[in-house]
Amino acid sequence: MGKRVKKEKLKIKKSMELFSSALKVMPGGVSSNARLWQTAYFCPIYTPCTIFAKRAHGSHIWDVDGNRYIDYRLGFGPIILGHGYPQVTTQISKAARKGTIFALDNELELDVSKQIIDMVPCAEMVRFSVTGTEATMHAIRVARAYTGKDVILKFEGHYHGGHDYLLWSTSPPYDTKERPYQQSLGMPSGMDKYVMVETWNNFQSIEKTVKEHHKKIAAIITEPIMGNAAAIMPKPGYLKHLRELCDRYDVLLIFDEVKTGFRVSRGGAQEFFGVKPHLATFAKSMSNGYPISAIVGQKEIMEMYGPGKNKVTQGGTYASNPLSLTAAKTTLSILKNREVYEQINVFGKRLMRGIEKILDDYKIQNVVQGHPAMFQYIATNNRDIIYNYKELKSNYHADLYAKVQYWLMTRGVLLDEDNQECFYTCLSHAKEKTLKPTLDAFETSVDKALSSKFKAVRFKLAGTAKMMAPKGNTPGQPIGTA
Ligand SMILES: Cc1ncc(COP(=O)(O)O)c(C=O)c1O
Repeated sequence: MGKRVKKEKLKIKKSMELFSSALKVMPGGVSSNARLWQTAYFCPIYTPCTIFAKRAHGSHIWDVDGNRYIDYRLGFGPIILGHGYPQVTTQISKAARKGTIFALDNELELDVSKQIIDMVPCAEMVRFSVTGTEATMHAIRVARAYTGKDVILKFEGHYHGGHDYLLWSTSPPYDTKERPYQQSLGMPSGMDKYVMVETWNNFQSIEKTVKEHHKKIAAIITEPIMGNAAAIMPKPGYLKHLRELCDRYDVLLIFDEVKTGFRVSRGGAQEFFGVKPHLATFAKSMSNGYPISAIVGQKEIMEMYGPGKNKVTQGGTYASNPLSLTAAKTTLSILKNREVYEQINVFGKRLMRGIEKILDDYKIQNVVQGHPAMFQYIATNNRDIIYNYKELKSNYHADLYAKVQYWLMTRGVLLDEDNQECFYTCLSHAKEKTLKPTLDAFETSVDKALSSKFKAVRFKLAGTAKMMAPKGNTPGQPIGTA
């Protein structure tokens, strides 16, 4: 079993000094609520808090205190090749010399659109935007225009960005009866009229809801793998069921592939699962870390975008800027080669199996779920498989996860502190032989976590599911990743 390791304390002095200064000039000390770590053991002074990054290269990231970590957060998913991947950075520095913004078409847009159409099954046409939030916002707008209906049906535990239309039930308290659950203050009253929330992976309830309400439902939007809820996978046939329901009832199916796109396969989750949505949104892995997103889909729907009274508005100053397009063009040309995915998958599978074996050896009941490029482990009380958000939140051993995450940091491995996030893997992990050091660190971290006496900051030690569930995310604390 695990060897005891001497290094017991994480050096975070500089990070904490900077964080204390950040609190004075930035609300919460961050530019995105999701970056605040709520369960981290090293944050007792400023809970929640975050550490300060210094630089990243390949599969590694360094913080300002000089700690070096194998990075499994990868910026919440965008890094698919590796941090600062040489081919991408070379092309970017060449492109920067030619100008950074034109507000005119440029040939790169054509090149990247063609690449996407070539790789993504549902993509007949493409519009570019900058963030995932914008992409989903524009996708539901065109869906409403095309169908002439207003309501968007989404799923509990799915995150589609920070706009008012979809910031509902993304991470509600696990025992709330409120549905849709408003995740932030400041959302205008009445917005709940335009959203319905269902439980994922439940064939019967979604069918019933669509049957009853299809006259007002414009679209169903879904993450094809629950990238914001510990990588819960769709049940066999579930995504196909959604598509069939949509076709039967004149509702559009939108896959939000902001996390899965160009990560789980070159054609995204729609290729991986063999189900074509009407529309899909992409961002993150599309450019290995530069700001760009895309709305893609069926020609007839996409052609609704355009100027004029009977058309749909979409645009933005930074949409299709040449730097992000250069990053996308270079990244996609590398990802065209299926061998890249094979390498990531082999690495990810070994990591998943290794983690499972360590947890089994320690007799910790567990589920290791997801795809080798985005997965999570869940130490559960009584589950072999998890199908939806409530099952996840009411069954996982949060304290153990938080402790393992802390000990992993002391051993040079960085995971997100929120187990709703995933382990993300990239090509550099596979190339840089990070498997053994990660699994060694995982084993000693589990060992330490089981034997360590100190208490969690925000979670009580294991007991009932209720005790383990995090305190509710109240309005004002939107959860997601950004
Ligand atoms: C599935 C999904 N959609 C949309 C978004 C929003 O993307 P962005 O943070 O770029 O606005 C995210 C962010 O993590 C996401 O995971």
